[in-house]
Amino acid sequence: MTVKLVHLFVHAVPILSHCNEDEQSLLLRLKQSLVYKSSASPGLESWNSSIDCCFWDGVTCTGGHVVALDISGLSFSRGIVNSSSLFELQYLQSLKYAGNGFHLSQIPSAIGKLTNLRYLNLSSNAFFGQVPIEISCLTSLVILDISGDYGGRLILENPNLSMLVQNLPKLTELYLDGVNISSQGTNWCQAISSSLQNLRVLSMSRCHLLGPIDQSLAKLSSLSVIRLDSNDIVAPVPGFLANFSNLTFLSLSFCGLRGTFPKEIFQVSTLQTIDLSDNRELQGSFPEFPQNDLFSFWF
Ligand SMILES: *[C@@H]1O[C@H](CO)[C@@H](O)[C@H](O)[C@H]1NC(C)=O
Ligand SMILES: *[C@@H]1O[C@H](CO)[C@@H](O)[C@H](O)[C@H]1NC(C)=O
Ligand SMILES: *[C@@H]1O[C@H](CO)[C@@H](O)[C@H](O)[C@H]1NC(C)=O
Ligand SMILES: *[C@@H]1O[C@H](CO)[C@@H](O)[C@H](O)[C@H]1NC(C)=O
Ligand SMILES: *[C@@H]1O[C@H](CO)[C@@H](O)[C@H](O)[C@H]1NC(C)=O
Ligand SMILES: *[C@@H]1O[C@H](CO)[C@@H](O)[C@H](O)[C@H]1NC(C)=O
Ligand SMILES: *[C@@H]1O[C@H](CO)[C@@H](O)[C@H](O)[C@H]1NC(C)=O
Repeated sequence: MTVKLVHLFVHAVPILSHCNEDEQSLLLRLKQSLVYKSSASPGLESWNSSIDCCFWDGVTCTGGHVVALDISGLSFSRGIVNSSSLFELQYLQSLKYAGNGFHLSQIPSAIGKLTNLRYLNLSSNAFFGQVPIEISCLTSLVILDISGDYGGRLILENPNLSMLVQNLPKLTELYLDGVNISSQGTNWCQAISSSLQNLRVLSMSRCHLLGPIDQSLAKLSSLSVIRLDSNDIVAPVPGFLANFSNLTFLSLSFCGLRGTFPKEIFQVSTLQTIDLSDNRELQGSFPEFPQNDLFSFWF
């Protein structure tokens, strides 16, 4: 019975929401502006004017409006850089444009027109240069992922980290792995803690961050995931992390950590993973761990 009900529900949604014609033609123009191998991008073949756009792969509608778009894992020889039509999709709340190969370009500043975005994922593209200031105008953002796998080509200098996040109070997840944030010096903790009170995921590995981890970060007690691997922290691990009662994941490998690891942190009952590997000057004695396969620990 349950299966049948789900089935009915799934089919009912697109019938209720006929694709808005203007948005359908914007999507068709977007498809035309992308240059890709059709064999590598089978999903885009479903973007066909004879089919309602709410049925296309990667397109989600609500009330006939395109609210979510997932154009990911495709092999573009020309991506969204000059696709002006994408940025006219005014109802878009979720945009995932991730893992789209090796086409080098800057993040288009027109992204700032998508003011209803709550989720933006531009990760693992070959983006380079300054992160556009226009991202800081997307004040509804809850999740922002601009992390890269291609060795820190994106730079947060002008705008710097403070400017990027200062108007994004709703952010709960921030992923900037691989973005060069060296210009922020040791001020990155203040930049984050003064603006992002609701943060649950802080992922900034390989960002050229300088330590120490500042006391101001203690304000962010909702943090559940902290990933800061491969930065130049070169300082002790702060004891206040033991006050983060929802902490599940703490990863600080290759950070040049010093001093004694605060053993109180092991008492955080939600913790599942701690990675402190490759910090040769870090000391500490570690409790006996229960034979619990949820808990993993590297040292
Ligand atoms: C759209 O779909 C129709 C019917 O399935 C097909 O004949 C046509 O070639 C498709 N057009 C494109 C541009 O793929
Ligand atoms: C995008 O547009 C700019 C300005 O019109 C132009 O200089 C550039 O070559 C275009 N890039 C691509 C990949 O078409
Ligand atoms: C962004 O997209 C990548 C590639 O699909 C995925 O691995 C990653 O988890 C996504 N990030 C978020 C925050 O959803
Ligand atoms: C990081 O960015 C700074 C400018 O903010 C630049 O001087 C430095 O060379 C960059 N580092 C790397 C590894 O690209
Ligand atoms: C970030 O940029 C703003 C505006 O230019 C500036 O006032 C602030 O000092 C900068 N912060 C850092 C840490 O460089
Ligand atoms: C921890 O998570 C629970 C459940 O999501 C939430 O109610 C609580 O406020 C969180 N605690 C902190 C310190 O953020
Ligand atoms: C943890 O929180 C308690 C109560 O808010 C506070 O007294 C204590 O100083 C905090 N510990 C650290 C190491 O910040």
